[in-house]
Amino acid sequence: MGTEVVTDELAARHREAFTQRYGSAAGGSGAVRCFYAPGRVNLMGAHLDYNGGPVLPMAIDRGTFVALRARTDRTIRLATTSSDETCELDLDHPPAASSDRWSDYPVGVVVGLLERAEDRPGLDVLFGGNLPVGAGLSSSASICVATAWALDAVWELGLQPMQIVDVALRAEREFVGVQCGIMDPYAVGLARPGHLLWLDCRDTSWSHLPLEPGTSVAVADTGVRRELARGEFNLRVAQCGEAFEQLRVHAPEATCLREVPLDVLEAEGHALDPVARARARHVLEEVQRTFEARAALLAGDVASFGRRMLDAHDSLRDLFEVSVPELDRLVDTARETPGVHGARLTGAGFGGCTVNVLESAAESEFEQRLVRDFEAAFGRRPRVEFFEGDPGPRETP
Ligand code: GLA
Repeated sequence: MGTEVVTDELAARHREAFTQRYGSAAGGSGAVRCFYAPGRVNLMGAHLDYNGGPVLPMAIDRGTFVALRARTDRTIRLATTSSDETCELDLDHPPAASSDRWSDYPVGVVVGLLERAEDRPGLDVLFGGNLPVGAGLSSSASICVATAWALDAVWELGLQPMQIVDVALRAEREFVGVQCGIMDPYAVGLARPGHLLWLDCRDTSWSHLPLEPGTSVAVADTGVRRELARGEFNLRVAQCGEAFEQLRVHAPEATCLREVPLDVLEAEGHALDPVARARARHVLEEVQRTFEARAALLAGDVASFGRRMLDAHDSLRDLFEVSVPELDRLVDTARETPGVHGARLTGAGFGGCTVNVLESAAESEFEQRLVRDFEAAFGRRPRVEFFEGDPGPRETP
């Protein structure tokens, strides 16, 4: 069954859920429209985007649905299928600050578009989808891009895809307050099925790289969710910033940590706090690994690509310290499974998922082993899924 078929069925169900929530015409004017944006996994370039480095994400065929219908006033009502908590805002008196609720993400997008939406109508909006929240699969960029895509269409704002990506990014950074890099909205907004996105976060240049036929991308979810993740993430951003501030004295040309030569770190790193030094080492070696992984992919050498992923995981565990025992166990099992090229944690870490690259023929053996080993260690099953890539944000029928 293709990606489109699944997405269309889910979209139809989501429309029904909208009607159940808001009624068939209660206060609304016009038709219900439904939009979708995928999530993503990142295969290489961990914690490099906010250091100006390259990343290699892929959009996955799981994502966020947004159904919406225009109202006759200037009120926006936001609801989700996953809780009863709703949010209401007045387009003429928008909130100035976030409120620590799920709705901060779409509210941030609405606020970012207000100047262009002066005479536009209010909306009833329902969010839903099949992307786990907080699993490192970028549910936040998915919801922001889907919202911006939907508002652009319904309000007829005429935005270009890159403007939509920018609105989504600013919602997270400026309204929600996460110091995230640019990778996630780009990965979601520039998706192409069967391809990874090569994105250089220093100058935002990008291209698509095909994945070898016969290769599968799998995601294994530990089920671990850390409330602390946002604080820990911002701490890593600060530690990298600190390392850069100290090292740039010895590398005057460098405009970001990625541009500091590794031999400068070797020669001058002793003056750094040991934690900042370890973070910087991860970043600079991961930059090298990501370029090597790209070359391997272009040469059709998936095995060599996979080795870079395994090295990346070791570095994330030991130098960047964002792994947890559940992630390590999944990677160790994958490492020993025939037909698996590589595995590592994906997203920010602190729980969530691993991403795995393997021969398609090895899928079922891989899944069985992962489940067996993880269950023996932790007494519960990890969720293992295989992804095909996704065509990106769109209106669904
Ligand atoms: C989170 C952030 C991304 C990126 C990754 C780590 O997912 O949102 O911008 O920094 O962590 O690679």
